[in-house]
Order: sequence, then C-alpha cells, then structure tokens
Amino acid sequence: MPQVVEHIPVLAGTLTERITLPPNGVMVDATIGQGGHSYLLGKTLSHEGVLIGLDVDKEAVRRAQLRLKDLVCRVILVRSNFSHIAEQVHKQGIEKVDFILADLGISSVQLSDVEKGLSFLEDAPLDMRIDKRLKTTAADIVNNTDEKTLADLIYNFGEDRASRRIARFIVERRKSEPITTTGQLADIVSRALRRPGQKRRTRIHPATRTFQALRIAVNNELENLKKLLASSSELLKSNGRIAVISFHSLEDRLVKNNFKENERAGIYKIITKKPIVPSREEICENRRARSAKLRIAQRI
Ligand SMILES: C[S@@+](CC[C@H](N)C(=O)[O-])C[C@H]1O[C@@H](n2cnc3c(N)ncnc32)[C@H](O)[C@@H]1O
Repeated sequence: MPQVVEHIPVLAGTLTERITLPPNGVMVDATIGQGGHSYLLGKTLSHEGVLIGLDVDKEAVRRAQLRLKDLVCRVILVRSNFSHIAEQVHKQGIEKVDFILADLGISSVQLSDVEKGLSFLEDAPLDMRIDKRLKTTAADIVNNTDEKTLADLIYNFGEDRASRRIARFIVERRKSEPITTTGQLADIVSRALRRPGQKRRTRIHPATRTFQALRIAVNNELENLKKLLASSSELLKSNGRIAVISFHSLEDRLVKNNFKENERAGIYKIITKKPIVPSREEICENRRARSAKLRIAQRI
C-alpha cells in the first residue's frame, strides 16, 4: 500500500489567479495526481462544466476520485498517458477545451512509494515505472545497456557532466552482481563522484541527476511531453489557455520552444514572458516546489 503523504499543489495560488474558467467550460488536467489543482479550478465550474483528468498511475486516479467527489461539474477520470490527450477528449464527444494543465513529473506520494522505486533515500527495487503497464524498468536499463549508451543517457537526461565515470562504475559493479535496488545504485553513483578528501560537490544528493535520467528514460517523459504539447494547440478553443509546470530544464526548454513556435505561427500568445517560479515562502513549505517553473500560453 502506498504511504499516505500530503501532496501540496505547486504554484496553486498563481494558477488560480491567472486562470479563469467559464462556469460551463471544459478543462483537462493532463496530470491529475492527487487532484489538488483540479479541485481548486474544478470548484469554479458549474454542473454544466466538465473536468477531464488523466494519469498513468492507477493509484493516482483512485486518489483523485476521492478528492474530487464533491465537485458539481462532470468529472471524468481516465488512466491514460497524456500523449493520448486528443483521443481521450474526443472520446467524450468533446472537440475543444478551455484549459489544459500539466503539472509534470511525480508527486511526493509517488516519490515515497517504495514500490515505484523512485527515491534514493529509501532502499527499494530499482523500478521507476510510474505506469506499471510499461515493460522496461530502471534495473533493466542499468544492467543491460552498454557503457557508452548508459553514459549518453545520464548526460542527456540527467545533465551530469560526470556521466562517463558514473557509467564506468555501474558497468564495473554489475560484473560482480546485478544492480537491483535504488540503494545499490545510489551507492555506486556516490562512489563514482567521491574524490578523496573532497566534500560533497553540491547540496543535492550525488545520485539526483542519474535518478532523474533513468526516470525520464523509463517513462519516456520527453517524448510524451512533446506529444502533449503538439496536441494541445489543436485542442484549445480560441482564448483557451495551456499551463505547464515543469521541474527541470529539459522539460522547460520543450515547453518554452513549443510556446515560441506557436507564437511565431500566430497560434498562441505567450502570457508568461518569463516563467513564474514559487516564492521563497512556498519553497520553505513545499520542497518539491523549489525547481518548479510555470509557463502559460493562450490560443489565439
Ligand atoms: C506532480 S503530479 C500532479 C499533481 C497534481 N497537479 C495535484 O495537484 O495533485 C504529476 C502526475 O502526473 C502523472 N504523470 C506523469 N507522466 C504522465 C503522463 N505521461 N501521462 C499522464 N500522467 C502522467 C504522474 O503519475 C503524477 O500523478
């Protein structure tokens, strides 16, 4: 059973200030999670309004169902990857929507769920699949990928300049034993980055970037985001808005570039010239918020 951990929606105040839905409007929360953002925005919809929520995690859909049960609007929750957003909306007989929200990545609940094997803070099976229907786990990648491909993956998705050294340490260790737990991997990466007599390079855990890289690869995160962004411009009504909260520069770059391209093509007007970031107070209350960036665009 997943542990009960409170999930605080990131940048919720800013979002509710910037997004006004028509009471009979349609919103799609592409990452329903605990339903935190959806609850706040869904409250502004009347019984004629529709809230469609997607999530790849079965548990998240179940939790959101409970969270949103008192909303008066029609609530449709589907276990689906947001790369299929258009298909899911059209299935409901809806052509266009007023608002699309994507709060990317994972929730604190998922991070602390040992079955998901996402955290280096607890020793758990090295899995990292948010969607358990996926076939390849992080352990499969770590144990079966050749050293160069592994190094490239850690560099490209984790932006860790020590990627070659980390990959070498992984390949060396797996000669003697398979790498099957998050603890083993965190230990290998820490050893790879440890220099004699040197204190930790940064305040973040040394394995942070490698874990990020593997999570992105296992869940195909960047390709899914590209598909979501490509479908969204088609789905939005005129004056409809899209808001994306991202947590690392690879995601943010995709969002920024997509919005810019659409602005150049006369499809979007960018509402946030610079990304909105959480206040220091919000970061103190919610560690997950520390790297959040919110960008909003409006369909012309
Ligand atoms: C940060 S949480 C969202 C939290 C939510 N905004 C709230 O306030 O409760 C991100 C959610 O997105 C889901 N997710 C990640 N990638 C997804 C994808 N490609 N398609 C659908 N859901 C995805 C995760 O399972 C997770 O539940």
